[in-house]
Amino acid sequence: MIRPATDDDLPSIVYIWKDNIETNNTSNDIVFAFRRFRKYWFVSESDRIAGFVAGTVKSSTRGHISGIAVLEEYQGCGMGNGLLSMLENAFISDGFKNITLEVRMNNMDARKLYERRGFEQTHVVKGYYPDGEAAMNYEKVLRDIKGNLLVGSLGVRGFKNAAFEDVVRYFQDK
Ligand SMILES: CC(C)(COP(=O)(O)OP(=O)(O)OC[C@H]1O[C@@H](n2cnc3c(N)ncnc32)[C@H](O)[C@@H]1OP(=O)(O)O)[C@@H](O)C(=O)NCCC(=O)NCCS
Repeated sequence: MIRPATDDDLPSIVYIWKDNIETNNTSNDIVFAFRRFRKYWFVSESDRIAGFVAGTVKSSTRGHISGIAVLEEYQGCGMGNGLLSMLENAFISDGFKNITLEVRMNNMDARKLYERRGFEQTHVVKGYYPDGEAAMNYEKVLRDIKGNLLVGSLGVRGFKNAAFEDVVRYFQDK
């Protein structure tokens, strides 16, 4: 099941984040971001919380993916794609024009996943990560200059132009 994150999920999210994503973010940073942007945070759950995605808002038109991770033993089951679909749909539903993210240059699995989902490389930030590794920045444009939606599919196979609520319902049944 993929669903919106709640307060009770926060310890699991912090644990999965700190264990799987090497960034400068402290636990306090993660909790602070959750309190501010929780509307855009989702978890995947099977017998326990297995993954999360953390969306943040950079401007009135730009949503951002600040973190996504799935516990190793649950990877490859579709949770990563499902979490991204939920977040992208939430951003689309709230009228955002684009979504950005940065990812480690050497994280080819994640980069391929983003590229398959329509994210395009924008620029490199050298030395972005604490250990000096560069970040590749990506952007997915959702709407044209007039605000028309450019993404026909909302990133979930079989969900063309589905309402956000339908996508939430779909993942809650899984
Ligand atoms: C990136 C990540 C979130 C993807 O989660 P996931 O649940 O494994 O993703 P999915 O099962 O939806 O698979 C996504 C794609 O990767 C492919 N994939 C997943 N695991 C794979 C593996 N071990 N080998 C090859 N391909 C794999 C899937 O086939 C799928 O391809 P598709 O989009 O063509 O269908 C997960 O690998 C992860 O937590 N990585 C560590 C943290 C990280 O790097 N986060 C991103 C940077 S912030």
